[in-house]
Amino acid sequence: MNELVFATTNRGKLVELEGLVGARLSVRSLKDFPSLGEIAETADTFEGNAALKAVAVAAATGRWALADDSGLEVDALGGRPGVWSARYAPTDAERIAKLLSELEGVPAEARSARFVCALCLASPAGATVFRRGTCEGRIGVTPRGEHGFGYDPIFVLPSGHTLAELTHEQKSGLSHRGQAFRAMQPALERLLPR
Ligand code: IMP
Repeated sequence: MNELVFATTNRGKLVELEGLVGARLSVRSLKDFPSLGEIAETADTFEGNAALKAVAVAAATGRWALADDSGLEVDALGGRPGVWSARYAPTDAERIAKLLSELEGVPAEARSARFVCALCLASPAGATVFRRGTCEGRIGVTPRGEHGFGYDPIFVLPSGHTLAELTHEQKSGLSHRGQAFRAMQPALERLLPR
C-alpha cells in the first residue's frame, strides 16, 4: 500500500486523516521518522508554514507528505493571533485570558473571528498542492464547554454553542481542519501513485 507521511506528532490529527484516506493509504507520522526533528514554522502565512513542513518531510523521506498549519484570526485585532496562535501565550488558559482581555469592551457584533487550516501536500520532487478550510464564529465573553482544545471554549458558532460544547464528531463535521481535509481528499486520491 502507498505511504503518505503526515508531518505531525498530534495523534488527534492523525486519526482524523486516517479516517479519510486510511483504507487506501498507509498513513505514517513524524513519530515514525524521529531523526527528522522539529521543523521551524518561520513563515508569516498558514500556507507558507504548511509548505515548509510538507516539502521538508517529502524531501527527507522520499515519500509524499502532508502538513497543516492552523490558527485563529480575530477581526477586531486585525487578524491576530493568526499564525502566532500557538505562540500567543504559554498555555491554553493564558492564551484565552489574554485574548479576552484584549477584547474587553468590544461589543458582540465586532467580535467576529475564524479558525483557518491550511493543508499542503508535497511530492518527493517538491510539487505542492494547497487546500484551506475555515470556520466562522465570534469570540465569546466567558469560556464554556469541556471538549476540544486551544481556543475552543471561547469560540462561539452561529448556533450559539462554543466549539468546546460539541462532541469530537460534531466538531470535525464543521471545523476548519475537517473542511480542509475533506477538500484535500480528491487530490490525495488523484495524485498519489497507485
Ligand atoms: P497548529 O496548527 O497545530 O500549530 O495550531 C495552532 C494553534 O491554533 C493551536 O495551538 C491552537 O492554539 C489554535 N488552534 C488551531 N486549531 C484549533 C482548534 O480547532 N481549536 C482551538 N484552537 C485551535
